[in-house]
Amino acid sequence: MKKIMLLLSILMFCAATAVIAVPPKKTLTFDKSAMGAVEFSGKIHKDAGFKCKECHNKDMFPKMKQGTVEINMDKIYAGELCGKCHNGTRAFAAKKNCKRCHVK
Ligand code: HEC
Ligand code: HEC
Ligand code: HEC
Repeated sequence: MKKIMLLLSILMFCAATAVIAVPPKKTLTFDKSAMGAVEFSGKIHKDAGFKCKECHNKDMFPKMKQGTVEINMDKIYAGELCGKCHNGTRAFAAKKNCKRCHVK
């Protein structure tokens, strides 16, 4: 029984660190738009100095799982989701820089 518990806790530890290790090193591709796929680089955003909570909060992207929030331009232009920052103040404005996000 003790051995099983130990094994379980090791497994859980590995699973936890695997999740934590994903985003800063990972690039997520959002490919549903006809404008071309959007590459979201965890590294660029981490290097810009953001904590996880800056985006992973109940108003933006509550879950650390791709595809749980529907992103569209109306929300972005309204200052939600990516538009919380991509508004020309905190980061480049979405309206004038389609190609910086929609790469292909
Ligand atoms: C600049 C915004 C931003 C920051 C900062 C950020 N994330 Fe994310 N993260 C996202 C977005 C957007 C998604 C996709 C969410 C969705 O589609 O619903 C995501 C998805 C994820 C995923 C799922 C990846 C997958 O393959 O499904 C994990 C895990 C994750 N983030 C962890 C983190 C951790 C840990 C941190 C802090 C080190 C962090 N994120 C910081 C925006 C951010
Ligand atoms: C917490 C603020 C924040 C959020 C939220 C955020 N970004 Fe960013 N993003 C930045 C900053 C800061 C940069 C660095 C470039 C700059 O200063 O304009 C950046 C850079 C980028 C770049 C690099 C483009 C280039 O030409 O260098 C892309 C692409 C990008 N963001 C896409 C997204 C997408 C897609 C989302 C939503 C899923 C998102 N960002 C959400 C702050 C943010
Ligand atoms: C900050 C990054 C960013 C910028 C800049 C940006 N977009 Fe987007 N756009 C996205 C993301 C993320 C999605 C969601 C894609 C998905 O779910 O696969 C999206 C979706 C879309 C869609 C499909 C959904 C909808 O709202 O109709 C269109 C069309 C679109 N973008 C056009 C544009 C145009 C035109 C521009 C420039 C005026 C632009 N985008 C600039 C990130 C961006």
